[in-house]
Amino acid sequence: MTDKRFFEPLDQGNGRLHAPATSRNRQPIYEVLRDHLPQHGTILELACGTGEHAAFMAPKFKAHHWQPTDLEREHLVSALTWAKYVGASNILTPRKLDVMQVPWPLDNLPSDVTAVLAINLIHIAPVEAMQTLIREAGRVLAPGGILYFYGPFKRDGEHTAASNELFDQSLKLRNPRWGVRNLESVADIALRAQFADPEIVEMPANNLSVIFRKL
Ligand SMILES: C[S@@+](CC[C@H](N)C(=O)[O-])C[C@H]1O[C@@H](n2cnc3c(N)ncnc32)[C@H](O)[C@@H]1O
Repeated sequence: MTDKRFFEPLDQGNGRLHAPATSRNRQPIYEVLRDHLPQHGTILELACGTGEHAAFMAPKFKAHHWQPTDLEREHLVSALTWAKYVGASNILTPRKLDVMQVPWPLDNLPSDVTAVLAINLIHIAPVEAMQTLIREAGRVLAPGGILYFYGPFKRDGEHTAASNELFDQSLKLRNPRWGVRNLESVADIALRAQFADPEIVEMPANNLSVIFRKL
């Protein structure tokens, strides 16, 4: 079910949802992606939520296809409605993808996947989701492809801000298997999946962009 703490219905009946955080983080995330994504190919967005990131960014990546995916049907409907609302012809029909279910259903894409995006996902899922995601991204991406994470991270096992620690506690109250991940643990798994050491970009509100390039 759609989590009403993150997602608000935007208008009556047509399925478009709004997540207030996307209005704040979409421009900073776009600026990082602009500087790091390969020049072409399909951008595979995991856990697209409302679809607002796709609606905002896809029109700025005209040379790419943008494939929104999520676990929840309601989110896929929202992403489709947003794509139509902004008239972005390079947004592909959103598809159901559970990052834990391998292999990912990526048949009939119009171009190779050159980037995998996971924005605000790995802390809101069991640690196995993060592990599976990295391994599957490593399988799907060719050398030079990008795996991008956005969200809060611990560094060397420690929170970097009191607000992240509180957020971590609130996540664990909702589900003991959720939680803010340790950047070094993520990087270790990525190394084993043939990714280079990450590039880190500090983002507003104590979040990070973490960019892994496939070797
Ligand atoms: C906090 S929301 C983030 C949504 C969006 N990326 C954003 O930043 O606004 C987390 C999203 O992860 C999705 N999700 C949770 N577990 C998932 C899984 N195993 N596979 C795919 N998506 C998942 C949820 O349905 C939800 O849309």
